Amino acid sequence: MAQTVEEKATAAATGASATERFQVDKTHASDTPPERVSMLARQVLEAVHATIREHQVTYAEYDALKAWLIQVGADGEWPLFLDVFVEHVVEEVANADREGSKGTIEGPFYVPDAPAFSAEATLPMRPDEKGTPMTFHGQVRAVDGTPLGGALVDIWHCDDDGFYAQFAPGIPQWNLRGRVTADENGNFTIHTIQPAPYQIPTDGATGAIIRAANWHAWRPAHLHLKVSADGHQLITTQLYFPGDPHNEDDIAAAVKAELMLDPRPSGDGVDVEYDFVLDPA
Ligand code: DHB
Ligand code: FE
Repeated sequence: MAQTVEEKATAAATGASATERFQVDKTHASDTPPERVSMLARQVLEAVHATIREHQVTYAEYDALKAWLIQVGADGEWPLFLDVFVEHVVEEVANADREGSKGTIEGPFYVPDAPAFSAEATLPMRPDEKGTPMTFHGQVRAVDGTPLGGALVDIWHCDDDGFYAQFAPGIPQWNLRGRVTADENGNFTIHTIQPAPYQIPTDGATGAIIRAANWHAWRPAHLHLKVSADGHQLITTQLYFPGDPHNEDDIAAAVKAELMLDPRPSGDGVDVEYDFVLDPA
C-alpha cells in the first residue's frame, strides 16, 4: 500500500527514535562538579532573566514558553532541537585546537555499528534507490601527511527524499549507512547516491517555533562522517555540496567553507573527492 505523507515521517516518530538512540548510545557527564553545574545553570538562568527584563516578557508569553517546552519533551524532540540550535557551538569549543580536518555537528541520526566494508564499498541501498549516483573517494592522513592505513570511515546520510534509515518508516535498517575501512594507504572509495537537502520535522514542537518565528527548517544536503584511526582523534563532520541554496542559511549553522565538496560529473552521476587529516590522540 502506498504510504501517505503523514505515515512517512512524523516529528513524534522521528523524535522518539532520536531520543531512544541518545539514551542507548550516550553517557551523561553526571560527575560534573556542583560548582560547575551551579555556575553554568546560574549563567543560563541569568540570560533568561535578562531577556525577560529587556523585552518585558508577559505572562501570556511565559505560559506559551511553558507549553512549548512541555511539547518538545512530549514529541521527543530534545535531541533534534538541541542538535539544530546548540550543538554547533559545543562542537566549535570542543574542536578549536585541532590542526587536521574541520569537524561539525553530529546531529541526532547517527547509529553505531553500521555494516562493515573494505576499502571500496557500495553502501546498502534499495534496488531502486532514487537519486544521483555518487562515488565518494579520498585518503585519510595524519597531520604530518603520513597515510593512515586501516582508518575507519563511518558514513551515514539521508535518501533522495531527505529521510534517514531508522528515523523514518519504511526504509531498510542500514540504508545509506556503512563503516568503510581504508586500505593500507588510507584510501577509500564509497559508492552511494547524493543526499537531498533535509527539512527538520515541521509538524512537532521544533517546527512550531520555527513557524512562529517565521524561520525556515532547512539544512543543505550533507554527508555525515566519523573518521578515526588508531592513535588519532576521531573527527565527526559533514560534507556539503556547492550551490545548495541552504549552504548560506543552514538552520543548524553547521556549514564551514572547508567542508565544501567539489563534485565532478562522472557517467550518469557525480564523483567527489575529499581527504581527511586526523590529529594525534
Ligand atoms: C537534524 C538533522 C540532521 O540531519 C542534522 O544533520 C542535524 C540536525 C535535526 O533534525 O535535528
Ligand atoms: Fe543530517
